[in-house]
Amino acid sequence: MGIALQEVGFTYLPGTPMARAALEGVDLSLREGETVCLMGASGSGKTTLLRIAAGISSPARGRVLLDGSRADDTASGRRRLRAAVGLLFQSPQKQLFAESVEKDVAFGPRNLGLRGRELSQRVREAMEAVGLDPQSHSHRSPFTLSDGEMRRAALAGVLAMRPRFLLLDEPTVGLDAPGRRLFRELIQGLKRRGIGVLMASHDWEEVEALADRVEVICEGRIVHSGDARSAAGDPGMLHEAGLASPPTLRVLALLRGKGLDLPTRASSPREAAALIADALGGEAQ
Ligand SMILES: Nc1ncnc2c1ncn2[C@@H]1O[C@H](COP(=O)(O)OP(=O)(O)OP(=O)(O)O)[C@@H](O)[C@H]1O
Ligand SMILES: [Mg+2]
Repeated sequence: MGIALQEVGFTYLPGTPMARAALEGVDLSLREGETVCLMGASGSGKTTLLRIAAGISSPARGRVLLDGSRADDTASGRRRLRAAVGLLFQSPQKQLFAESVEKDVAFGPRNLGLRGRELSQRVREAMEAVGLDPQSHSHRSPFTLSDGEMRRAALAGVLAMRPRFLLLDEPTVGLDAPGRRLFRELIQGLKRRGIGVLMASHDWEEVEALADRVEVICEGRIVHSGDARSAAGDPGMLHEAGLASPPTLRVLALLRGKGLDLPTRASSPREAAALIADALGGEAQ
């Protein structure tokens, strides 16, 4: 059970001299309980892909399936897709609109018919899940929040809908280290509850910690699909796609260049430290 994009293509401003194919021949699936990271340079098509997978835009070419049946070619199909999928926008300013954080987070579940205690409990849970203290933040205008808090409030609004699939467009940009850690734990918790997560990200630490699969997109096409290790271990592909290698691997490469006998891969900074200490004849702490 899941979402599947099949041979999806999308063109902005079709039929005009400014027409631009943003996606071409994209095959991508997301199952329940799976975390997939979408990596790609600026302008590669990540946001366009997420909008199509969420049922907000329709593909110009190809199909979107939900649980095996087509969900992009009728209004009822797109409604079914939007009910199953939550999308966190790249800019939280575009997602937030109400006069208070509480009203904003409550908007979706209220539309689902929730009222009273059930509604306030749903809002409180969602705010706590993203690390926003309901006591101090509920009554503030979302537009007085810091960038990081705004991002959390927008995510709380998406989570309050309890989607089966969560699509996140560069969700940790602007978060500090504790915010990123909390976010990582949140995603791991959602995964345990069977929620499928598709996340656009540039952050290798996050990708290596969370991804069951990495999809690399370059100029609207998927150019690599595999686990984080296989993506990180293909510097040629990453370079072509305009992406940096993980910092850990860059350090290993620099030290190899200085004559140390080191492998090209390490699965974590800790493993890299142990390998470097070994190569220097010492011991990693
Ligand atoms: N509304 C639009 N009208 C015309 N072209 C657009 C529009 N939105 C996006 N594009 C173009 O489509 C391509 C893909 O854009 P998209 O926003 O999906 O990329 P992205 O990978 O999300 O980039 P970023 O990392 O900067 O968010 C880009 O070339 C972009 O200029
Ligand atoms: Mg984008």
